Amino acid sequence: MKTFPLEPIEKASIDELRALQLQRLKQTLSHAYENSPVYRAKFDAAGVHPQDCRSLEDLAKFPFTTKQDLRDNYPFGMFAVPREQCVRIHASSGTTGKPTVVGYTRKDIDTWAQVMARSLRASGARPGDMVHVSYGYGLFTGGLGAHYGAEHLGLTVVPFGGGQTERQVQLINDFRPDIIMVTPSYMLAIADEFERQGLDPRESSLRLGIFGAEPWTHDMRASIERRLSLQAVDIYGLSEVMGPGVANECIETQDGPTIWEDHFYPEIVDPETGQPVPEGEMGELVFTSLTKEALPVIRYRTRDLTRLLPGTARTMRRMEKITGRSDDMMIVRGVNVFPTQIEELILRQGELAPHYQCVLTREGPLDCLTVVVEVRSGLETASPAAQEAAQRLAHDIKAYVGATAKVELRDAGGVERSVGKARRVVDLRGK
Ligand code: DLL
Repeated sequence: MKTFPLEPIEKASIDELRALQLQRLKQTLSHAYENSPVYRAKFDAAGVHPQDCRSLEDLAKFPFTTKQDLRDNYPFGMFAVPREQCVRIHASSGTTGKPTVVGYTRKDIDTWAQVMARSLRASGARPGDMVHVSYGYGLFTGGLGAHYGAEHLGLTVVPFGGGQTERQVQLINDFRPDIIMVTPSYMLAIADEFERQGLDPRESSLRLGIFGAEPWTHDMRASIERRLSLQAVDIYGLSEVMGPGVANECIETQDGPTIWEDHFYPEIVDPETGQPVPEGEMGELVFTSLTKEALPVIRYRTRDLTRLLPGTARTMRRMEKITGRSDDMMIVRGVNVFPTQIEELILRQGELAPHYQCVLTREGPLDCLTVVVEVRSGLETASPAAQEAAQRLAHDIKAYVGATAKVELRDAGGVERSVGKARRVVDLRGK
């Protein structure tokens, strides 16, 4: 592969990186304390002052920020600049209640475009490539985040957004983009549509897919790469911290997203106690922004579960592919189950397609998990091959995850499709 110059900080030594982080961390803590009454009150209540931060380890003395803080100060109460200085607002809808609102100054938008351009370049995109963006445009950060970064790197952007799957396929066919940016679950729906139109997805012009916004497994990666004959990389981000481009996998290693640590400082904490865990252990990912103006985030609890790994393709650390969100963890008769564990097992059965939902119901005092999953197209749900695959899946869930689950088969197309993030857990217990 043609080499492409990296930004100096991507090649900096760990010492240089840590020095830059500390300097930026001090600035961020002061900026938050001086300009956001909410942060000032939180720091005061915890008895800490920005001057207490003399090393990166001192960050652990500062209080966490949670989604609830953003909700309590809805819509703009956490901003550290006057609203007039924001050039953009985004919001994430969440499952309940008010949306979480985030704001960006012009400089924030430039920083975001830079880290997204860096993410695209790490993915293997090069100036002149054409990218088809199927992440939603609008309040969701996916579409516009991808868009600005792609323009910044010098790509030709097709700003399609989510939905209209038939037309997505038509334009991919006609424009012949090199790259697609989309949620992995919607990529599968687009691949299905290729086939429905009698087209072979492997013959498409796409050589690279940049997939994220939801958890997806290594097996899902292998399945997408095979089915579409492209290379798939993982992009991670969240609105509160910036949007897509907080971390991105490097194409040369495909071994978990590299965190752009010069802008976003990661920690892993025990989700129960909030205490930092030893380097390399699993826990909840926490981010502190190092360069944001409008909405600095100090120790933001993402609820995403992963671990930090040493850098490989870059000096900066990587995160392991996300296992799941603590919100998505199901507790089935005392056993913790993540949808990604079910996904891995579904992908082992050639008779099944990875369109699935985990439905939780209650039978008397007991929680029941039903995995609703599609058979591959052309197969009947009642056929012996499909029935045997369902039995094997139920057996594997018991054997590998430890939970008892029913498996319900659906015809191809029978499981709800989303054009963005897939809804993997359907909780009917309260109903
Ligand atoms: O999903 C930003 C984004 C857009 C990322 C496009 C990547 C691509 P939110 O809507 O705020 O922002 O949702 C953030 O999505 O806390 C994770 O739980 C999940 N998530 C995002 N990327 C990944 C990923 C965008 N690569 C929440 N793997 C995060 C697993 C992911 N989960």
